[in-house]
Amino acid sequence: MGNLAVVGAQWGDEGKGKITDLLARHADVVVRYGGGPNAGHTVMAGDRLLKLHLVPSGILYPTTACLIGGGCVVDPESLLAEIDRLHEQGLTTDHLRISETAHVIMPYHRTLDRAEESARANPIGTTGRGIGPSYGDKVTRQGIRMLELVDPAKLRRRLEEELPRINRLLTRLHDLEPLELAPLLETLSAQGARLKPYVMDTALHLHRAIREGKRVLFEGAQGALLDLEMGTYPFVTSSYPVAGGASVGSGVGPGSIGKVLGIAKAYATRVGGGPFPSELHDEVGQRIRDIGHEYGTTTGRPRRCGWFDAVALRLATRANGLDALAITKLDVLDAFETLEVVVAYRDGERLLDEFPADLEVLERCTPVLENHPGWQTPTGAARTWDELPAAARAYLDRLAELVGVPVELVSVGAEREATLTRPGILDGWV
Ligand code: IMP
Repeated sequence: MGNLAVVGAQWGDEGKGKITDLLARHADVVVRYGGGPNAGHTVMAGDRLLKLHLVPSGILYPTTACLIGGGCVVDPESLLAEIDRLHEQGLTTDHLRISETAHVIMPYHRTLDRAEESARANPIGTTGRGIGPSYGDKVTRQGIRMLELVDPAKLRRRLEEELPRINRLLTRLHDLEPLELAPLLETLSAQGARLKPYVMDTALHLHRAIREGKRVLFEGAQGALLDLEMGTYPFVTSSYPVAGGASVGSGVGPGSIGKVLGIAKAYATRVGGGPFPSELHDEVGQRIRDIGHEYGTTTGRPRRCGWFDAVALRLATRANGLDALAITKLDVLDAFETLEVVVAYRDGERLLDEFPADLEVLERCTPVLENHPGWQTPTGAARTWDELPAAARAYLDRLAELVGVPVELVSVGAEREATLTRPGILDGWV
């Protein structure tokens, strides 16, 4: 049994938190490889509901090393608040480590995120957490890394270098107040001092763990359709949620990743702007939103809801090299009389069964829908494949057939137990 990457196969919010938490039980190391506090993972542990943003979902298992990889961006204020909340709930974070090369989300990145968003003709609908500006500084080689945050002398030097540029952006481009060095330095140094014990060379740690035969779970955030390279650009996030991002973002070679499990809901959702071909603007969409509690963990925004989109999933399958699919929130569809699945897009006379990169094409496409009878039976108590109603099994089989990847895990509720699996790549993991 090798390592495993768990990735989002839609637009994020697929329920990766629950699945990662479930699988982390059998992992020696869990590494989050991209994104920042834009993510929101909800994990149920007994009667405790944990809302995680950057801390890996393996945190509930004290013997599992939880790494925040170099591909992540760290907001010290929000990470410390997350750590404090875990401590208040009686959980330890002694097994948490943060990559020294992860870039820091500075307070000015959050300000710039909101300012840039409001200046856009077509807003992306970002989470406002400073993700884009922080990755932007990383790419243009102006970012500040965790190893600098935790060293007051280095931090001072870097802020002295960057602040004049940031202040020009704030004042001249966005008509905002400039920042003063001293209070910024004071706040960030205090945060750096608290985070220092967690900061290390996580890539080396991971390399050694893999060499020793330890079992690693690579935890994805967001989803393939939000990937900077493969997603619906520019309505994407600024990181690489696809499985390839796991290699770069955790600092080990792609051969270490092992198998790739894609997570998709039994329907589809999207938060923020951008194309969403299977979106339902009617009461059916609202019904999915209500039953599925489709409101953002990070921002509380209502999620846009639609039918399962096999065309989008085909993109996710090849972009990630998926070996298997996990379908979550099947129970949300329990009461529906009929279900629909997008099997292709129609662009005038043309039928597309692969996702187009040109958003203008995507926007004029209409989805080609396939009807399925609902099962109209509660599935929440099912624990084996055979306990699912025949119509639910037929629905899942059809999704697998349309996407070309077997469904090997189905989630029918928020609790860990509300999960059923079939033999395959998860053997030994569940
Ligand atoms: P950003 O990552 O905050 O820059 O936001 C860019 C886009 O990605 C927006 O449409 C966000 O709603 C979306 N996004 C970012 N993180 C998540 C997530 O964890 N779940 C769902 N959507 C997300």
